[in-house]
Amino acid sequence: MKIIGGSASGMLAGELARVLDADLVETEFRRFPDGEGYARILGDLNDERVLLVQTTLPDPNIVELFLWQDAVNDFDIESLITLTPYFGYSRQDKAFESGEAVSARAIAERIELFTDEVVVVDIHNSKALEYFEKPVTHLTAAPAFARYLDGKVDIVLSPDEGRVEMANGVSEILGTDTDYLEKIRHDATTVEIKTKSLDVTGKRVAIVDDIISTGGTLGLAAKQLKEEGVESIIALCTHGLFIGDAMDKLYNCAEVISTDTVESEHSKISVAQEIADAIG
Ligand code: R5P
Repeated sequence: MKIIGGSASGMLAGELARVLDADLVETEFRRFPDGEGYARILGDLNDERVLLVQTTLPDPNIVELFLWQDAVNDFDIESLITLTPYFGYSRQDKAFESGEAVSARAIAERIELFTDEVVVVDIHNSKALEYFEKPVTHLTAAPAFARYLDGKVDIVLSPDEGRVEMANGVSEILGTDTDYLEKIRHDATTVEIKTKSLDVTGKRVAIVDDIISTGGTLGLAAKQLKEEGVESIIALCTHGLFIGDAMDKLYNCAEVISTDTVESEHSKISVAQEIADAIG
């Protein structure tokens, strides 16, 4: 297998090459003064199975992905797997008002035009996957979280009902307890948030989520857990976007960790093993 790493996903592409014992293809990518991209593959891809890795955030990286797909398809390849570790634009999976663009459809349909298969990790809204007609593999970072957390926590929590499956997946591997934070609305302006059933006093807790964007969700969860008397909090997300002052909101967390689907100084966990196991 030959691997092409786009400029948003060099770290993960390198790790995949190592785990899969595959060749990372030499490439050249640069931008013209007006911001347009130039992509060139320097190796030979003829007769090869190719894995293209590029996160689709921010928008210029989407265009870069299309340039790589175009360049790859000029070779006589065996097949192309396009891995978008973070698939942006999954939120809007339908038109709520007439005339709205369905952004999940717009991106999915264009990505699959020039590929044989697609791989995504912890897509924010799995309904977006319905817009792919070609085979799509949807992976979770839960086993990677478990590798990192082994021996470090007593409880794995979801910050809301939305990520219960992810928290359960991690806790099952670790053999720990699991729970989620429940929102209780008392009236139009008062919302209480608390752990659904477990007593977390004195416990070492991990909170897991698919995304940290503004940090609001995990920041609020961590604040509540502190009030409930936890010993320590590790916050983990698959996709660390860390918009604006997100990190400031996470001051109650001893550690804030993300995977390498979106690369940053917090990318301490790799999902390369999960991807390799799926596409090997
Ligand atoms: C919600 O459905 C998601 O799982 C995340 O909790 C949310 O997108 C995180 O966003 P933020 O960091 O802005 O609260």
